[in-house]
Amino acid sequence: MSSVSIIGVGNMASALAARAVAGGNIVEIIGRDPAKTKEVAAALGGATVGTAGTAPAGDIVILAVPYASAAAVVSEYGDALAGKVIIDISNTFNADATGLVTPDGTSGAQEIAKAVPASAHVVKAFNTVFGHVLAQGRPLDVFFAGDDARSKATVSAFIESLGLRPLDVGGLEMARWLEGVGPLLMGLARHGAGTFNLALGVDLRG
Ligand SMILES: NC(=O)c1ccc[n+]([C@@H]2O[C@H](COP(=O)([O-])OP(=O)(O)OC[C@H]3O[C@@H](n4cnc5c(N)ncnc54)[C@H](OP(=O)(O)O)[C@@H]3O)[C@@H](O)[C@H]2O)c1
Repeated sequence: MSSVSIIGVGNMASALAARAVAGGNIVEIIGRDPAKTKEVAAALGGATVGTAGTAPAGDIVILAVPYASAAAVVSEYGDALAGKVIIDISNTFNADATGLVTPDGTSGAQEIAKAVPASAHVVKAFNTVFGHVLAQGRPLDVFFAGDDARSKATVSAFIESLGLRPLDVGGLEMARWLEGVGPLLMGLARHGAGTFNLALGVDLRG
């Protein structure tokens, strides 16, 4: 069981929170609009409401905001994120989902890692699953990347608690390639698959 705070009250926040509550985790929802946050937490049943900008209760903090807002959110919390395991779920693709907004040689996760307190550890995860697919409750593969082994173990156990399979792809430098999966999934949905009701998985046969 993990203790998790989710910053954001949109599609991904709701889908992750629902699975986290169902998985027996302690869940706190933090939004910038108190009324909307209360509504989302009430709909989940069992989630508490946190206060934006103050120390999140969870050991794990999920940033469920657009990448364009992530830097502002991280700086708003500042030292309140000290010692936290921060899960960056953002997709960093451009408006037509054919490229990434981050320059070559870095990633959204690495840029976020530069902005959090030194004692916090960023793990990239969940950006390769669609929110509406996550909300369907089916088992899925969740790729993750990060530099701190303990934080990765924490995130891996949390992913498992959601009924999902964690798949470690390496250090945080691999986040760029996870972020590259965003345009790949969008292109697949729009072209070959012809549906957004899809998920990327790995056939592991040992
Ligand atoms: N949707 C997907 O299928 C999917 C899949 C994988 C990853 N992701 C990633 O997940 C993240 C969230 O996506 P989403 O689909 O859940 O988006 P969404 O439904 O639009 O929700 C975004 C949330 O971020 C909040 N927010 C935006 N700017 C903020 C700020 N400056 N301070 C505080 N809160 C702020 C919004 O607050 P308000 O409600 O107050 O506007 C909203 O609750 C994004 O990074 C996205 O790339 C999405």
